[in-house]
Amino acid sequence: MTTHLQPGEFSLLTQCGTARAGLLGTAHGTLETPVFMPVGTQGTVKALGPDDLAALGPRIILGNTYHLYLRPGDERVARLGGLHQFMGWNGAILTDSGGFQVFSLQGLRRIEEEGVTFQSHIDGSRHLFSPEKVVSIQRNLGSDIMMVLDECVPYGADREYTAKSLQLTTRWARRCREAHPALDRGQLLFGIVQGGFFPDLRAESARQLMEIPFDGFAIGGLSVGESRAEMLDILAHTAPLLPQDKPRYLMGVGTPRDLLDGIALGVDMFDCVLPTRNARNGTLFTSFGKTNIKLAKYAEDPAPLDPACTCYTCRTFSRAYLRHLYMARELLAYRLNTIHNIHYYLDLMRQARAAILEHRFEAFRRDILAHYEDEAT
Ligand code: GUN
Ligand code: ZN
Repeated sequence: MTTHLQPGEFSLLTQCGTARAGLLGTAHGTLETPVFMPVGTQGTVKALGPDDLAALGPRIILGNTYHLYLRPGDERVARLGGLHQFMGWNGAILTDSGGFQVFSLQGLRRIEEEGVTFQSHIDGSRHLFSPEKVVSIQRNLGSDIMMVLDECVPYGADREYTAKSLQLTTRWARRCREAHPALDRGQLLFGIVQGGFFPDLRAESARQLMEIPFDGFAIGGLSVGESRAEMLDILAHTAPLLPQDKPRYLMGVGTPRDLLDGIALGVDMFDCVLPTRNARNGTLFTSFGKTNIKLAKYAEDPAPLDPACTCYTCRTFSRAYLRHLYMARELLAYRLNTIHNIHYYLDLMRQARAAILEHRFEAFRRDILAHYEDEAT
C-alpha cells in the first residue's frame, strides 16, 4: 500500500547513508523513489504495448518534446486528448524539454538568448525552441513532469564557454517557470543543473536554479563522453548541493552499476535508453551479469534466460527459443527481450528501495556489483 500524495508533494521516508527512499506525488499517481523511468521517446516504449507496461508495473515513463513536436505535433496530440489518452497510458509521464535532443543533432543549430534554432531531422524544416515554446509544447502533451529548456554543454567545453552557458540555462529556466505558474501542480516543472566538469560552476548553477521555485532538480550534462570516474566525481559533488526536500533526477544515466552508484549518492530518479536499446540488439541484463542471446552456447539451452527472473519472458520461454527468434529477426524477439530488460531495471530499483528502507543498501549494492565487476559497464 502506497500513501497517495498530492502532485508535487515529495516525502523523504528514509535515508541510508546518503541513499534516499521517498514518495513523489504526480497528477497520474504517486511514485516510489528511487525510480527508473523507461524511455518512450515517440509515445511508445519501443516494442511494448500498454498491457505489457501494465504487467511490468512502472509508475512513470519518459516522452520527448522534440520528437512529439515534430511528429505527430503537440497540438494534434492535445486535440486527441493529450499524450496519456493518445498512447493509452494512465501512469505518469515525464517529458524532456527537447534541448538535449536538439544539441545532439548534426548540422545547423544556433543558440541565442531567445532560444535555439534547429533543423528537423525528418524534413530539414527550421524551428525555434524558446523556453516559452517548450513549456507550451509540454503543456499540450499534458505530461506530469515538464523539464526546462537547457543547454547540455558538450564534453571538453572550456571553462569560459561552460560558465556563459550555465548563465543562459538559468535565464531560460526562469523564463520556463514564468511561463508555467509554480502553483499549477497539475504539471510539475523541474530545473536542470549544468556547469560541465567544473565543480565550482556546478555549484553556481545549482545555487542559481535553487532560487527559482521548481518542483524538483535534475542533473544534466553527464554521460556525454566522460569517464565513469569523472561522472561520479561531479555527481558526488553536485547531488548534496540540491535541496533535501525535493526530488533529484540524474538525466540519461545509465547502467545498473551507474544506477546503484547514483542512488548511493542521493539521486531519486533515472532514465536511460540502455535497457530498451540493448534488448533490441540482444544484450540482456541478468542476475549473473550482462549476456547476449545470440551466443552459440544458447542454441539448445532449455533453461529460462535468467532462472532468478520472474518476468513473462523468463517464466514462459527458453534461451534456445529466444536465441532462435533473435537469429531469425522475428519481431517477437524485440518484445520479449524488452520485457525482460525493463523488468530487470524495475526490479533492481524495487530491491534497492527495499534495501534503503531496511538500512542495508551498501551491502545490497556490493552484492549486485560483484556480478558486473569485470565489465566496462
Ligand atoms: N538527457 C540527458 N542529459 C540531458 C541534459 O543535460 N539535458 C536535458 N534536457 N536532457 C538530458
Ligand atoms: Zn526475465
